[in-house]
Amino acid sequence: MAGDSDNKELIEKILQLKKKRNAVILAHNYQRPEVQDIGDFVGDSLELSRNAAKTDADTIVFCGVHFMAETASILCPNKVVLLPDADAGCPMANMITEEDLVKKKKEVRDAHVVCYVNSSAAVKAESEICCTSANAVEVVRTVGKGEIIFVPDQYLGHYVSTKLNRPMILWPGFCPTHVRIQPEDILKQKKKYPEAIVLVHPECRPEVTAVADEVLSTGGMLRFARQTDAKVIIIGSEIGILHRMRKENPGKTFVPASEKAICPNMKKITLEKILWSLEDMKPEVKVPEDIRIRAKSAVDKMLAV
Ligand code: 13P
Ligand code: SF4
Repeated sequence: MAGDSDNKELIEKILQLKKKRNAVILAHNYQRPEVQDIGDFVGDSLELSRNAAKTDADTIVFCGVHFMAETASILCPNKVVLLPDADAGCPMANMITEEDLVKKKKEVRDAHVVCYVNSSAAVKAESEICCTSANAVEVVRTVGKGEIIFVPDQYLGHYVSTKLNRPMILWPGFCPTHVRIQPEDILKQKKKYPEAIVLVHPECRPEVTAVADEVLSTGGMLRFARQTDAKVIIIGSEIGILHRMRKENPGKTFVPASEKAICPNMKKITLEKILWSLEDMKPEVKVPEDIRIRAKSAVDKMLAV
């Protein structure tokens, strides 16, 4: 484990190389605190996509998981997109393959396909439109009449379907980190902090969203935390988000619903790996052009909502 002075040295080297490579560091809200702290931009998956699309850097160091780096590559084919640990994947994204989706589309002919960005580029390429947890309700609202196949997160799909009172065919995927949060965890913390408000991510089970005050994306939770008058806030999401919340709101208390909500893949990115990726200019994430063009259409439609 690197100490403070080791970190200082690492950070200096990263900053020097970042300049040389004309690179930008994008970090997701679940990244390790020290990784978030060197990010040029820290945000949720929608904010990171928008940022990737508009950066004029030549290299994007994506501190997140594989599908996020792929989305950056879909939007910026002429930039080098680095994922400092090639094994940082999202288990939920791996719960559906392109073949699975093609088969499902044959079973339910003429259905619209809405795909959560937590999916591979090949699955996006087979989808009509993408969404993130920040815009899923608005995206589905734009989808015309007919059946909708929603992949891969059954819980986000269930949340949207309930909100819009529109049935959807839900792929049975889930986030192994968010399903660890149980309603009892929230109720236990509520007993300890009766005045607290509860914010949860829509990847949580319906029993958990049912006991929450607000269901929000990571970016939405951060905005809400800044604006609310509540002094104690219980967070039902990956615990990496607490770092930024505490930093931005020193007068407020943030309590994790469950200490077990840790995404091991998000934690794979370290300062050392960021430095190595900038030194070697790898591991690079690049989406093959034929898949990229089709996937981009689904991502662009989302960004236009
Ligand atoms: P956000 O889009 O809210 O950042 O969530 C991404 C994610 O992977 C949640 O588990
Ligand atoms: Fe995937 Fe869940 Fe990790 Fe998000 S928290 S990257 S959905 S496994």
